[in-house]
Amino acid sequence: MYYDSRPLMSDSADEKPRDSNSELLWGFWYPALPSKQVRGRKLERAMLLEVPLVIGRTAAGKPFALRDVCPHRAFPLSFGRFDGATVECAYHGWQFDAHTGQCRHIPSLTADSKLKCERIYAGSFPCEERDGYIWAFMTNPEGRAEAAAAIPPAPELPTFSASYKIARLAADLPCSVDTGIIGLMDPAHGPFVHQAWWWRSRRSLRDKAKQFEPIPNGFRMSSHAPSANSAPYKLLKLITGEPATTTIDFVLPNQRFEQIRAGKYWLSSRTTVTPVKRDLCRLDFVAAWNILPWVPVVSFIIHVLGPRFIRQDTEVIEKQGLGLKYEDRMMLVDDADRQARWYFELKAALAESRRTGQPMRHPVAGPVTLRWRS
Ligand code: FES
Ligand SMILES: [Fe+2]
Repeated sequence: MYYDSRPLMSDSADEKPRDSNSELLWGFWYPALPSKQVRGRKLERAMLLEVPLVIGRTAAGKPFALRDVCPHRAFPLSFGRFDGATVECAYHGWQFDAHTGQCRHIPSLTADSKLKCERIYAGSFPCEERDGYIWAFMTNPEGRAEAAAAIPPAPELPTFSASYKIARLAADLPCSVDTGIIGLMDPAHGPFVHQAWWWRSRRSLRDKAKQFEPIPNGFRMSSHAPSANSAPYKLLKLITGEPATTTIDFVLPNQRFEQIRAGKYWLSSRTTVTPVKRDLCRLDFVAAWNILPWVPVVSFIIHVLGPRFIRQDTEVIEKQGLGLKYEDRMMLVDDADRQARWYFELKAALAESRRTGQPMRHPVAGPVTLRWRS
């Protein structure tokens, strides 16, 4: 049995969706830049959901994100000066509060001018720092302010002990956010794309049966023993002497969490695929762990094997792009591609609930077992 790519979205999309037509999800937090890149009074540029941003820190160290377009005549604010509180446009010197975007000063105005500069705003986005990233809450393309109550706390990587190690990886993915995300949750490519002695080979294909359950805005692969056919998990068992369990969550708009627990040891990771532009995403991976912090074995896996793993995914997505130029429909086959279907269904359900104001109708009705070979 196979399916068209977006069966539940067909009412709204009569046109064949092109790969670059992924619907962008507004009203969510997205990681914009690594924290350490935003220092002192420097203004940094970033782009999220095709919105150019200028990012910095006020004198108190709190990050801010303004739309990098001056409301006067669209000059990028990132060329301007920043004094720790206001950003000054380099074209005509208008000044904007770094956090709210409110205009503070227009140098060309005479004393008797009727123009109320405090009514003018540069677009601005709620901004927080978590897990070593500057996050922006992408309210809407213009950066219009929204009631603070409508803004949930920024995402945070779950951790399970006071001390732990943390590492981050990043890569550009030349694809739409939908292609990036369904690649992220695809269980069937492993044996073909990630062939390696330490991971798995195509000869190691075996039957899998995984239990899934709905969670708010997403779905969870319920706690289970990790694949017996992958070396890192075997190693983990060897190190900890405890049977490991793993739980994998996908949560809209773009987050995949994985937790591995073995007795008092744990490893918690989050992968996000963030749309920069319609045809470009950035993958951010962050992991924290307390497994043998004094022996760099996990660190080795993440820093040496991780980039290789991500490169394999990046290469496959580049090559897939060559074909997607000519064919934008995809078959989503049960059960290996069921998670991809759920992703599209979650997006459609979210759009519907936002449109009607009704609670979101979750596409995953209850616990369900999916079977595939990988
Ligand atoms: S364009 Fe920014 S002050 Fe004129
Ligand atoms: Fe992969």
